[in-house]
Amino acid sequence: MGNKGDEEMGLYAIGDLHLHFQAEVKARGQLTDPAWKDHERLFRQNCEALIGPEDTLLLAGDHSWGKNLEECAADLQYIMDLPGRKILLRGNHDMFWDAKKTPALNARFQGQLAFLQNNYYVYGDYALVGTKGFTFEGPFYLDRKGRLMGWDEQAEAHARRIVERESARLRLSLEAAKGAGYQKLILFLHYPPTNILEKDSPFTALAEAYGVEQVFYAHCHGEARFHDSILGMKNGIRYSLVSGDYLRWRPMKILD
Ligand SMILES: [Fe+2]
Ligand SMILES: [Fe+2]
Repeated sequence: MGNKGDEEMGLYAIGDLHLHFQAEVKARGQLTDPAWKDHERLFRQNCEALIGPEDTLLLAGDHSWGKNLEECAADLQYIMDLPGRKILLRGNHDMFWDAKKTPALNARFQGQLAFLQNNYYVYGDYALVGTKGFTFEGPFYLDRKGRLMGWDEQAEAHARRIVERESARLRLSLEAAKGAGYQKLILFLHYPPTNILEKDSPFTALAEAYGVEQVFYAHCHGEARFHDSILGMKNGIRYSLVSGDYLRWRPMKILD
């Protein structure tokens, strides 16, 4: 790991696999788009064509519909069977993963899956940092002309607490990497760094304060949501969406 001279290495990212080899899918509506047809097969084929044993695949959350580890077993096995080193980030649907129990998950899947939470992983001379993130997604109240009149204040206050908790977790990850001497940082979030009303957030502020080079996020799936947040360069940082259907199930290569 971290062998900079190795020309064979590649770092790839994608999110929102929403696997359900075992679990009943409650929110079927999300998966009716043709982009989801046979997506497990297409994604595995793309991984097998692109990713070698020396490569790293960062999966940016919403791995499985299962509610606990037992219901996720087949989904996690599918992920373990993909080529390369797999690093997982927590998504809002990942009920099997209690953030506080990440060390237990890392012990249980040692050598097979790596779970990114309050820690970091090394890729070349980069540290890969991240957390689930969060952003207030409404309800927003619009008038007849579609103008914003307000929003659910209770939901917004609740969201603000989660954003605070997630920023603290992100700071732990950033500090761990910086403390170990890593200057070059790539940040992964499951949620977009901002909602459609925001220009910045505690997550963009942290990315800027720590000199992160690139931010990757997922969660926005379905074409209507692909432009919910920052895409491209902002204040010297490149932001990219890597949700699975946005990438048509082809992992994005983000570093050689
Ligand atoms: Fe998702
Ligand atoms: Fe999500």
